[in-house]
Amino acid sequence: MLITDLVGALGAAHVLTDPDVTVSYETDWTGAFRGRAVAVARPATTDQVAAVLRICARHGVPVVPQGGNTGLVGGSVPAGAAAGAVVLSLRRLTAIEPVDAAAGLVTAGAGATLADVQAHARAAGYGVGVDFAARDSATVGGIAAANAGGERVLRHGMTRGQVAGLEVVLADGSVLRRLSGLPKDNVGYDLPSLFVGSEGTLGVITKVQLRLVGLPAARTAALLAVADLPAAVGLVATLRATVASLDAVELVFGDGVDLVCAHQGRPAPFPGRPFPADSPYLLVECVGPTDPTGDLAAAVETATGVLDAVVATTATDRERLWAYREGHTAAVNALDVPLKLDVAVPLARMSAFVDDLRALVPAVAPSARLHLWGHLAEANLHVNVTGLDRADASGREELTTAILTRAAADGGSIGAEHGVGRAKMAWVGLSRSPAELAVLAAVKHALDPTGLLNPGVLVPPGLTGSHRQLLATSPQAPPSAP
Ligand code: MLT
Ligand code: ZN
Repeated sequence: MLITDLVGALGAAHVLTDPDVTVSYETDWTGAFRGRAVAVARPATTDQVAAVLRICARHGVPVVPQGGNTGLVGGSVPAGAAAGAVVLSLRRLTAIEPVDAAAGLVTAGAGATLADVQAHARAAGYGVGVDFAARDSATVGGIAAANAGGERVLRHGMTRGQVAGLEVVLADGSVLRRLSGLPKDNVGYDLPSLFVGSEGTLGVITKVQLRLVGLPAARTAALLAVADLPAAVGLVATLRATVASLDAVELVFGDGVDLVCAHQGRPAPFPGRPFPADSPYLLVECVGPTDPTGDLAAAVETATGVLDAVVATTATDRERLWAYREGHTAAVNALDVPLKLDVAVPLARMSAFVDDLRALVPAVAPSARLHLWGHLAEANLHVNVTGLDRADASGREELTTAILTRAAADGGSIGAEHGVGRAKMAWVGLSRSPAELAVLAAVKHALDPTGLLNPGVLVPPGLTGSHRQLLATSPQAPPSAP
């Protein structure tokens, strides 16, 4: 019996089957993705993770790895093709090793939250190059599995750039460990990198070794009201070229800020100066060994189209400004379970893309309310839509297809920083060629030949074999939804 074997490996307290208890593991943070698990397994060590995988393989029951369950694309819940899976929660793997100060590295259990790792690094005089609003819940295993982006990609790149090593349990229960921490270790394929962004489909990440970054002595944030999106994109170019201390350029709009203010009971950022609903605001942050305020002010003064500015130099004031930006996800979710899309569009086309979206969304879905925000320096726009009929799956699909097709037509990506999960499976072919999908499926098949790990995520079901066989049989059109 599967459950008896799991209880034998983990103890009864760590194999959950009561639906009242498992429901939070079966539903993603947004509430958009739900499924039923046969059990939730909560191992505390790498050996226990390996035991769970061996047991599930023996019983032919799929496994959905789960960290903080904040991934936003349904990749960490047992929905769709993963119905009836074991959810493998990594949240008890929380140990964080001492910081290697000379190498600038830290190794943490997959279940340690990003905030805990940040605090641990800070105590040793370091920072972590990845940061985003869900830091208190997101786990480092999850952010590695998702190759999370966030608010510091401009300076530090995506999570992949921060991962120096990993420990991963493979589908057969064997353990792959690359934690040498050596910056020069050029022997063969970069296997840790293969697992970063694999969304739980190739192995279960149990430890993450992160490169740490220096802690800046000074930080300044500014919220800028900008005339229009072309001016905002122009400002990104000016800031990039002239402000060496630039750390983040985030995009919000007037209506989104109003929504956050209403949700959190905050005052408007520019009191007595209401800007139109579609006015872009940029949240810019600069960091450096000395106060970067002067550099930022000089760049902003010479830029065209900046209508107003609020500057924050203390931690409290910066947090206040960041709340207008980081409050968007929760404020939108408080309205409704949104349709959440996350695209990248070349910056040169961003303004036309946004104009088209503002026309396209009401044309396809008249009841819809569009919410836009994102990471402008990385050309990454979060497109959320509320006010849709939840029961009308085909209407949501039609709207998704319209938006993602438009992004792809501009040379954009359909999954900028949130990945594919279950949410974008039907549209992967808009961003990846048949040749790329065939290699992806062949890699999956080589490491997980029975499809034990996270079925229905990334690799269309039934796509197995060598990449050459797959390419020979693959349709030129995007794969259809599972
Ligand atoms: C954000 O940047 O706010 C996050 O990616 C979360 C979201 O898109 O809701
Ligand atoms: Zn984001």
